[in-house]
Amino acid sequence: LLITLFSCDSKEDNQKRIVIGFSQSISEEDSWRKSMDNTMMVEASLHPEIDLTISNANGSTKKQINDIEKMMEHHLDVLIVAPYGSDSIVPVIEKANKKGIPVIIVDRKVNTSNYTSFLGADNVEVGHIAGKYIASMSNAHANVVEIKATTDISPSVERSLGFKQIIDQYPNIKKVSISAPNLESLNNNFSKVLDSMQRIDYVFAFNDNMALQAWEVAKRKGREKNIKFIGIDGLNDPNGGIQAVKDGKLTATILYPTGGSEAIKLAIKLANKEIVSKNNILNTTLIDSLNADIMSNQFDKISVQQSDIELQQN
Ligand code: AHR
Repeated sequence: LLITLFSCDSKEDNQKRIVIGFSQSISEEDSWRKSMDNTMMVEASLHPEIDLTISNANGSTKKQINDIEKMMEHHLDVLIVAPYGSDSIVPVIEKANKKGIPVIIVDRKVNTSNYTSFLGADNVEVGHIAGKYIASMSNAHANVVEIKATTDISPSVERSLGFKQIIDQYPNIKKVSISAPNLESLNNNFSKVLDSMQRIDYVFAFNDNMALQAWEVAKRKGREKNIKFIGIDGLNDPNGGIQAVKDGKLTATILYPTGGSEAIKLAIKLANKEIVSKNNILNTTLIDSLNADIMSNQFDKISVQQSDIELQQN
């Protein structure tokens, strides 16, 4: 998929064009990625001088490298990359950096410092939020199942680390961790855990989709009402985490901003040769039944949701 958004406002014809290439790693079937793309397109359309091209690698690092190589064959003022993994993508990022193209890395980390800016939420903090919530809601006595994604992506590693740092402080919180690189393996692996553990109080999953899938598996075994499910992302669409909290399927979700609109704002600054921070951290917060209505009213349209998240620069 390649989306190109060219502005055609004649008043702006003499204004310097800003050519931005965005390489997305995961297909639009992932609603969080779709929201990131949408917020980028909305923000770009507010700036008539921007020409934004979006490519989608559908989960293949090989294709993502190829997409970026292709973008670099033409003039680029700024390159934005939402990487899939942290390692194989490094040479092409370093190549862009060496060519003098400002590079913004969004969401997942890469194993090089040869880029211009990173933009994303703090995933260790996300894990802390989940751990503290469970400790306070359970009075520090609970059986917990953590469902991780694949281990080689930074959000999975960091969310799990932050969660462990908190849970390890409470001897009466027992944690079992399982990995589920996809929804099918989640079905099998979580099903086995349900069969082997009589009492599960909380499930903390890598994202809302996985938390909801775990809820389905528990429902098939008649166990969903006795378990509290916590996810991450907090999208405000009919199938998203906020609605799932309102429906009572998820006890909580942790808002994980996509950074789509902030990435475009950063790109404009870079194209205008302004100095920007190397690390740009997006705020996160917990959403449960107490604030789900307020949060969904705030993000009243999917196309502009998460665009007002405050940016802390450090
Ligand atoms: O890398 C971040 C994760 O990627 C989001 O939490 C998720 O849902 C998306 O697929």
